[in-house]
Amino acid sequence: MILNTLKKASLAALATGVLSFTASAGEVEVLHWWTSGGEAKSVAVLKQLLEKDGHTWKDFAVAGGGGESAMTVLKSRVVSGKPPTAAQIKGPSIQEWGDEGVVANLDSVANAAGWDELLPKVVSDVMKYDGNYVAVPVNVHRVNWMWVNPEVFEKAGAKIPSTWDGFVEAAEKIKAAGFIPVAHGGQAWQDSTTFESLALAIGGSQFYNDAFVKLDPKALNSPTMVKVFEALRTVKKYTDKDAPGRDWNLATAMVIQGKAAMQFMGDWAKGEFTAAGKKPGTDYICMAFPGTRGKFTFNIDSFVMFDVGGGDAKKAQDAMARTIMEPKFQEIFNLNKGSIPARLNMPRDKFDICAHQSMDEFVGSSKTGDLVPSMAHGMSTFAAVQGAIYDTVTAFYNSDMSAQEAAQKLVSAVQSSM
Ligand code: BGC
Repeated sequence: MILNTLKKASLAALATGVLSFTASAGEVEVLHWWTSGGEAKSVAVLKQLLEKDGHTWKDFAVAGGGGESAMTVLKSRVVSGKPPTAAQIKGPSIQEWGDEGVVANLDSVANAAGWDELLPKVVSDVMKYDGNYVAVPVNVHRVNWMWVNPEVFEKAGAKIPSTWDGFVEAAEKIKAAGFIPVAHGGQAWQDSTTFESLALAIGGSQFYNDAFVKLDPKALNSPTMVKVFEALRTVKKYTDKDAPGRDWNLATAMVIQGKAAMQFMGDWAKGEFTAAGKKPGTDYICMAFPGTRGKFTFNIDSFVMFDVGGGDAKKAQDAMARTIMEPKFQEIFNLNKGSIPARLNMPRDKFDICAHQSMDEFVGSSKTGDLVPSMAHGMSTFAAVQGAIYDTVTAFYNSDMSAQEAAQKLVSAVQSSM
């Protein structure tokens, strides 16, 4: 499903034993898309820890929030028989890469450290292919956040919204006061990030799961989905004319600098506030996306390890897997990244109020059926289906297509991608 050509090429390469690897002894080549200020600081933690152990880090960064470009580059590398040591791959896609027969088995590292006991089951299940660990999680991001500049709200005399109606009321006031209500970057993955939060707010968790996990046509094309599309158009009304194409971290900078009042984005945005020396609760405020308090859209970043044969390359790969799960990495990385550790029972004291809220709501939402996988960040469906949803949402966002038509198109796009 990833790519038919990939399957053929990789199987042929395996059969003839011509897979070659760029990683030399003790080297890890790591593909990721963490290139913003906060992201780069975070990934540097892993590099430093591995270098301290004598391994060499070969950085393979492919810019582009959401990771679409990174995935395209990865496919061509694997097709040519030169997979990196590890690549940032998430969610159901891990299964697709498992199907290709190109992933490494990390069970010896996982068993020695007891990963099954250290990870919530909702996380460890995703990391396994055919019962074996093939990936290792670095964090848990929450997607349904709103990042607020309280000063802008104050200047506009607006109340920070916790409901959808409250959002519209506040956005009107902020606009009238001459500020940009919503900092947005018009890129498909960002449009869908807002869209999925609206679906959760307006339809609730059951509707969200029916639409984006079960891909139920009755939910995809429903009066509720029509409302979700209408709400997306309303959000667009409160963005600025320079939004098209803008990178997400530049949108975050608009909130940091007081040009915009809020941004709807996962908590990697917090990494930008942290890198800029800003403190939550005073300089900025983190709140659940209006109407989604107690609900949690999860996005787990993980590294899939590729089959690098044995020897020093494998030793370095195992060291990377081991290091990622160690408390030291899980703490420092996540303090920088804005996410929370994937590993259970970590000390909370160094984490801020936003992380505490995330930790509490991760546990709380899992008990009420409100812990849902992010569609926009590749946790709820395969990449092809996600791509079909992206295309429909973005086509709607950038045209005057009616919300009814968009909901109808969503069903046909999803069905033809399966
Ligand atoms: C990833 C994050 C990353 C964000 C922006 C998300 O899909 O999970 O780690 O920071 O995209 O690039």
